[in-house]
Amino acid sequence: MRYHPHVMADSPSADAAFKTFEHEGWEKVALPYREAFSSLTCQAIPPLLGAVGAAAGVRLLDVACGPGDAAAAATKRGAQATGVDFANAMVEQASRLYPGSAFRVGDAEALPFPEAAFDAVVINFGVLHFADPDGALAEAHRVLRPGGRLAFTAWAPPEKAVGFAIVLEAIERHGRLDVPVPEGPPFFRFGDPDESRRALSLAGFADARVRELPLRWRLPTSDSLLDAFLEGGVRTRGILRAQTPAALAAVRESVRSAAQRHAHSGGVELAMPALMSTAERG
Ligand SMILES: C[S@@+](CC[C@H](N)C(=O)[O-])C[C@H]1O[C@@H](n2cnc3c(N)ncnc32)[C@H](O)[C@@H]1O
Repeated sequence: MRYHPHVMADSPSADAAFKTFEHEGWEKVALPYREAFSSLTCQAIPPLLGAVGAAAGVRLLDVACGPGDAAAAATKRGAQATGVDFANAMVEQASRLYPGSAFRVGDAEALPFPEAAFDAVVINFGVLHFADPDGALAEAHRVLRPGGRLAFTAWAPPEKAVGFAIVLEAIERHGRLDVPVPEGPPFFRFGDPDESRRALSLAGFADARVRELPLRWRLPTSDSLLDAFLEGGVRTRGILRAQTPAALAAVRESVRSAAQRHAHSGGVELAMPALMSTAERG
């Protein structure tokens, strides 16, 4: 499991194993993911749509659209929005929730669209799940018209995103992080603004900018935090499910008591800042 920022899977077969693992995971968790995470990830949608100028007539692609919330919000602004995701279960959910937007199955690393087909591309918390994020940025560049804009979000590192800090520290203390889960690219790579700007410029983008979004996660109980990752995540879910029952029970207790320190209005509220990176296709 690679939560460490500077380690990467370094062979095509490692990439393939990770991609299969992610794909199978997202097919399983489409519904619980939305229940657990959408109230949080949806907070990033207005800044994302603002950054790419989503407005009437704009052809917008929502890559790794999941339940389709960003594409649907773009449609509401009058954009011609299409969502694409490699998980059938996500595309089915998005089509059911938002019949007014177009959704299709497709791989962010080999987008099923011609060159310059879009004016705007958004990726809300998708890049950290790709086996080849640089390939996906190159694909976003290919499908954008010259002058079109890309905006994507990724989590700030655990020192700032408290929900991750609580869960990862509990696993480190009471369980094991080195469990047999396929290695993928570093989860918090795009939580580093310099690294984001570097990746965008390598993919051919100009005018790369990064800013922090102060997202907050409101959860109904102190147990909801672990449950969110256990039911609705993929990498962390894999790690949690690989713990022994005793270790998992200890992790749960530790997460519960750490989350209780953030009690707020009958539930829990955690700082979960994200970094939004934006750039233009030159
Ligand atoms: C954390 S969810 C984000 C979903 C949505 N954008 C949101 O903000 O709620 C990550 C999504 O990325 C999708 N995904 C991961 N790898 C992908 C790939 N290579 N191509 C397309 N979608 C991918 C998953 O199926 C999942 O729906």
